[in-house]
Amino acid sequence: MVPIHWDDSKGEILWLDNSKIPWKEVSVSSKNLARLIKAIQALEIRGAPILGEAGAYGTAMIANNSPDSRERILKNVMEHGARLAAARPTAVNLSWGVRQIQNVVKKEYDSGAAPAEIKKAAIEAAKKIQRENIEATYRIGEHGKRLIHDGDVLVTICNAGTLACDGLGTSTAPMRAAYADGIKFRVLATYTAPLYQGARLTAWELHKDGIPVQVITDNMAGHLMREEKATAVWAGADRILGNFTKESGSVYNKIGTFGLAMMARELHMKMYVAAPTSTIDPEHAVKDIKIEQRRPEEVETLLNGTTIVPEGVGVLNPAFDRTPPEYVSAIITELGIAAAPYDASIPQLLELPGSMVRFSTK
Ligand code: MRU
Repeated sequence: MVPIHWDDSKGEILWLDNSKIPWKEVSVSSKNLARLIKAIQALEIRGAPILGEAGAYGTAMIANNSPDSRERILKNVMEHGARLAAARPTAVNLSWGVRQIQNVVKKEYDSGAAPAEIKKAAIEAAKKIQRENIEATYRIGEHGKRLIHDGDVLVTICNAGTLACDGLGTSTAPMRAAYADGIKFRVLATYTAPLYQGARLTAWELHKDGIPVQVITDNMAGHLMREEKATAVWAGADRILGNFTKESGSVYNKIGTFGLAMMARELHMKMYVAAPTSTIDPEHAVKDIKIEQRRPEEVETLLNGTTIVPEGVGVLNPAFDRTPPEYVSAIITELGIAAAPYDASIPQLLELPGSMVRFSTK
């Protein structure tokens, strides 16, 4: 499965439309920025690491579509790149991917590169981001599989699989690696209303791989986690705070994650979060993070369009929530596993300046 791809011959981005799965596997391609932004907002392209790739390819596409003028390329990449970065606010990877390519273009510009060279460098840098993302998922799998044992019952939320993250996925990577090693476990994939990424996408991916998976509705979680003796929740992340404060290790992920984390703690289960380090945000604090509020129609109607909320009744539709660090047993990244206290372990993992000093004084 190739969730996103750059087509050199056409200068287009190709993506697998997540909104159509599991009914149809449709690839869409475009070289139009407005279309790409629409695809991101409609969740045709979704999941933090893939949004990073889409941000990178989208910014390379902006450069590639520009006239052969050094100034115009730089201007377009900065201005239109900002539009692309703002398409969805919560996953840090989208703006991260845009910024990576903006930096490459600026560097090429400053070094006096010709327009064709700037465009080529942007495209090559975006491809490199995708290669590194894929590689990161394999490493997350190797680190994380040590946390999965025979007889485990694992609970997942949303989709942090290949569709969302490329490669082996993030929360699914340890599962795939453990399964390849012959470990016997099963997965309970929560629906993840209102858009059902758990039922539609995670169940589809794991089932295709032969990993035992059963879908449960979101409100069954507490009961089934206790009755089925679940051992761990495995979530992905859209943003993990990684500054030097007590907020480090705060996990922004699909709405419902905090609820599962609270249930896991009450039931003495582990709460694992798997994500590449590109999902770690070392700069911002909780007060800075915007939780995306999505259209009320997503809650008011079923996927087939049937209205289920009486007319005139209001709804709320936050797409993500924040799980505080004290609920998180470990964060599995491509560079290794971070455990509490995260204000020391995450900066150390990222080798942020000052992290060793701070780590050793704790
Ligand atoms: O709204 P989505 O579908 O883009 O949500 C993203 C997610 O799939 C999850 O929050 C996921 O667990 C983290 S992204 C790998």
